[in-house]
Formats: sequence, C-alpha cells, structure tokens
Amino acid sequence: MSLATICLPVQADLKAVEDVLIQHTGSSVGLVTEAAKYVLQNGGKRIRPALLLLTSKLLGYPVTKAADLGAAVEMIHAASLMHDDVLDDAEIRRGKPASNVKWGNQISILVGDFLWCRASEIAISYGNDRILSSITAAVKNTTEGEILEIVRSSDFDINEEDYLRIIELKTAMLFACSCQLGAILAGASKNFEETMKTYGLNIGIAFQLADDVLDYVSNDVNLGKKTGTDLCEGKLTLPIILALKKCSEGEGKILKDALLANTLDAAKLKEIRAILENLGTLQESMNLAKKYVKIAKDALMPFKPSLERDALAAIADYAVSRDK
Ligand code: IPE
Ligand code: IPE
Ligand code: MG
Ligand code: MG
Repeated sequence: MSLATICLPVQADLKAVEDVLIQHTGSSVGLVTEAAKYVLQNGGKRIRPALLLLTSKLLGYPVTKAADLGAAVEMIHAASLMHDDVLDDAEIRRGKPASNVKWGNQISILVGDFLWCRASEIAISYGNDRILSSITAAVKNTTEGEILEIVRSSDFDINEEDYLRIIELKTAMLFACSCQLGAILAGASKNFEETMKTYGLNIGIAFQLADDVLDYVSNDVNLGKKTGTDLCEGKLTLPIILALKKCSEGEGKILKDALLANTLDAAKLKEIRAILENLGTLQESMNLAKKYVKIAKDALMPFKPSLERDALAAIADYAVSRDK
C-alpha cells in the first residue's frame, strides 16, 4: 500500500502541515527562505508528521491543532538532511541536486540550524515543557548519532550492537519523538505515551535498516539519492558488518578496500552487492528489520481497533517494504 493511501485518515491534516511549512519557514533574509523552501517542498514522504497526527488522533485529540507540531518535526527532519548531505557529500536528494550541491556547505548548515530554531519556536508556542523537551532531546540524539557514525566510519571493529546504537540515535529517536508528541498533545497517560514512543523507536530502527539495504540494492532514479553512498563514505552498515564476520579472506579484502577507497564506480558496487547477496547479509538485515516491525506492531495491541491503529500498523510494514 502507498504511504498516501495508508495516511488517508489524516489526509486533511497533512495538507494543513503543508500549509504551515509554506507559511512558517520564511525569513527576512531572502536566501534562507529560498533554501528552506527548496528542501521542504521537494517531495519528502512526510512520514514523521503522519506518525504524529495518527498518534494524536488514535488517542482522541482533535488533530487540527497538531498541524503546527507536525510541521515542526518535518522541519527537524529537513534540517538533519541538510546537515547529513554535507557530511555525506551527497549529490542528489529526492531526485534533485542535494542542498549542499545547490547552495554549498555553508548555506546548507546554517539553513539547517535556522530550521531547527523555527521548529523550537513552534514547540515553545504550545506552552508545554514536555513538548519542548521531547523535541530538543530528538535533535540532540540525532546529532549524537551522526557524530558517532563519523567516529566509527572505516572502523572494521564495529559490531551489530554499535551499529544499532548509531541508527537508534540518528534516525529512530526522531520517529519516537514524533509519536510521543502526538501522545502528549492528546493528553495521553504516561503509559500510552511510553507505548507510542516504543512503537516509534522500533519502526525508526526498521526504517533505517531498510534504508541501509536500499543503499545497496536500489537504483539512483528510484531512490532519488545515490546508491552506494554508505560504502563510498566508509560507513559500515549492517550488511557489511555481517559480511565481514563470515566472508573469505579474499572477499574481506575486497570489502575493506572498497570502504577505504573514497570513490566507487558502478562495476565495484555491483561486485560488492554480489558478495553481500551471496553471503545472504542483505536478507539478514531485512529479516532483522522485520523483527523491529513486529515489536512496533505488538506495541499497538493495547489500543482499541480503529482506522488510526490500522494505519499505524500499516506504516510499520511500509517502513520495510518501501522502495524509496
Ligand atoms: C531519509 O528519511 C533519511 C533517513 C532517516 C533514512 P526519509 O526517507 O523519511 O526522507 P524523505 O523526507 O522522505 O525524503
Ligand atoms: C540518515 O542518515 C539521515 C539522518 C538521520 C540525519 P543517512 O545518511 O543514512 O540517510 P540518507 O541515505 O542520506 O537519506
Ligand atoms: Mg546521508
Ligand atoms: Mg548520513
């Protein structure tokens, strides 16, 4: 099922999020407005606002007031992508030149900071400390995850546990935060708030696991970003970590040389993909992702059946079945 179809219960509210994104990302500095518009109106999936809206609706909140906060989590996400594309030396994002290519590293970093501040302003406007704490913790965790990933790049000793810690911080915490915010808005019990955080955290982990497989198996046009980026940047994601544990000496040398090369052509990527496929580690990574999907879906069980609960369960499946 497409994400748009899954999100039908909050379709109108997602439209309201788009309006907020257009209205609240302007600046008196023209270039800020232009660059923010470029990253925010460039075809993102909006999965984080969808999670926030569906959670608040699941818990009985009249979603109309949630649009601002939905836009805030999307701003945080967009800012982290602007920073990430600088760090990863990205060329394309959502099928278009990445912001660092279009505007340069300096502008990308600073407009990312601007968007983080706009998101904080929106959070403050709710007058609820717990909302602001959740948002600032998510930004802090995302940053820590990105730093930890850099620290461990080209480190062949990294293990599965280290990798899971990185993706939890850099990706899953913002998913967890989006769900937590929906619960806080709805005035849910602490118990339900934690339950929704658990759901979000687990689909976030599954989402990034799938993303790291797509980086090997997809193609640039479909993905809207350049495949093989992790390998080229010396990032040891799970398919490689698992492969290094069981490959032959010769295969290990090919994998390590590719990780250290700082450059990657199509033939090399094909060769590495064949090694990973042969060793079964792309499939193993997807199997692990599916385990996290199951944990996420199980977390939804205490809630009464509803359209929103079905949609949240479907988003969990979508996180690992998506092709972009
Ligand atoms: C990309 O996130 C970054 C990851 C966490 C893998 P999305 O896949 O949600 O990006 P867009 O916003 O839809 O492009
Ligand atoms: C995810 O990192 C982005 C953030 C959490 C900021 P990646 O580097 O793996 O994501 P893509 O592949 O560039 O979207
Ligand atoms: Mg990246
Ligand atoms: Mg990255």
